[in-house]
Amino acid sequence: MSEAAVTSAGPAHAGTAPARPDASSGARGAASHDALHGASHDAQENASARAACRGARLTRLILNDFRSYARADLAFDGRPVAIAGANGAGKTNILEAISLIGPGRGVRGARLDELPRIGGAGGWAVSARFMDAGGDERRFGVGAEPSRPARRVCRIDDAAASGPGAFSDHLRFLWLTPAMDRLFMEGAGERRRFLDRMTLACDPAHGRRASAFEQAMRQRQRLLEEGGDPALASALEIQMAENGVAIAAGRRETAARLAAAEVAGAADLFPAADIALEGELEAALADAKAADVEEDYAARLKTRRRLDAEAGRALLGPHRSDLLVYHRGKGRPARLCSTGEQKALLIGLVLANARIVAAQESADAPLILLLDEIAAHLDPDRRAGLFSIIDALGFQAFMTGTDKALFAAWGERAQHLEACGGALHPATLT
Ligand SMILES: Nc1ncnc2c1ncn2[C@@H]1O[C@H](COP(=O)(O)OP(=O)(O)OP(=O)(O)O)[C@@H](O)[C@H]1O
Ligand SMILES: [Mg+2]
Repeated sequence: MSEAAVTSAGPAHAGTAPARPDASSGARGAASHDALHGASHDAQENASARAACRGARLTRLILNDFRSYARADLAFDGRPVAIAGANGAGKTNILEAISLIGPGRGVRGARLDELPRIGGAGGWAVSARFMDAGGDERRFGVGAEPSRPARRVCRIDDAAASGPGAFSDHLRFLWLTPAMDRLFMEGAGERRRFLDRMTLACDPAHGRRASAFEQAMRQRQRLLEEGGDPALASALEIQMAENGVAIAAGRRETAARLAAAEVAGAADLFPAADIALEGELEAALADAKAADVEEDYAARLKTRRRLDAEAGRALLGPHRSDLLVYHRGKGRPARLCSTGEQKALLIGLVLANARIVAAQESADAPLILLLDEIAAHLDPDRRAGLFSIIDALGFQAFMTGTDKALFAAWGERAQHLEACGGALHPATLT
């Protein structure tokens, strides 16, 4: 595989209630009341000012039989949310619940059968209330009925949604989790998914193209292995080519935008990254028009039918691409950087990506940042700097850490919650 143009990104440039999505009512909102009233009057005023100027935000999250939570009802006032708690207290479960109001399998990449609370009725539900930029409330829900645990049910307002992909017209997510600490050390798959999440955050259509590509690829594979109709195989190859080239083009655009993004205040804290995309389609798009790359890819798929049938998978396409990241200052691949340097590079990329989304004119689908164990590798200056950057970017952010002291310096600028004993409460900082 050849390498496409290297670009830079950085500071950076760089109980057993039937689980039905949004089956909750305000009457059950005691915990949310507490959470909201944990904030001071001033902070609430600041929050309203923020909400007014920055628009949309998640205002409430209700969980039923989700992971360790039999029931949780949380209100968010618009300030960045800091969730502290001991190992196993349920912090990541909250971020995971939020991330499921989006396409894919959430921050943990979990299977559906892992989500219902062990000891519950077998179903689960996550419901979110959202205030859109116009101040109107939207309601999103995802879950599964106990009788059909393998079927994910999605709702937007009062209507059934076609699937989790429909959420991305309303909300976008970017996340960092401890599992991603090894992103630069492991196989291409996770890096590719990270790149695709960054691309999806810029363009909701990226997710639809990825689904369409995968569906066409699966159908073609089945057809090739069963020795089916060659004309149908050609039609599927054209679909793969159309969507595959659009996917590669979207990734290239994201990489280029990451290179140009400048995040105020980040340059001294999070290292600049140089990025390369490794993939045949991405490389081909550097020198040729999209229509020509499509035609060439469809033609090559056709000549490779026997090879792909024998291999049990398509050997060529955007599902094989990789994201290569370099620490610009050190001039070396991220893979060879220290754990802390790798984390800082990742944070720089996510901030650069958030900056790109902030610069987009369309605010139809606001971005939510989910930063799990974000403080773990950061010294106090970087922690403070990260908070200021996030605050200035204006996106709603949810952050977790094992010790509330990690977030104490943020004071009333953040909404502090503490996870303990299967519940979340407002945290006191003194
Ligand atoms: N389906 C489930 N039913 C019940 N409990 C679950 C389920 N899945 C996970 N858990 C439990 O939920 C608890 C909280 O997990 P979570 O990952 O949210 O903890 P955490 O606060 O993020 O901890 P850490 O600081 O170690 O990351 C764990 O004890 C975990 O075993
Ligand atoms: Mg955790």
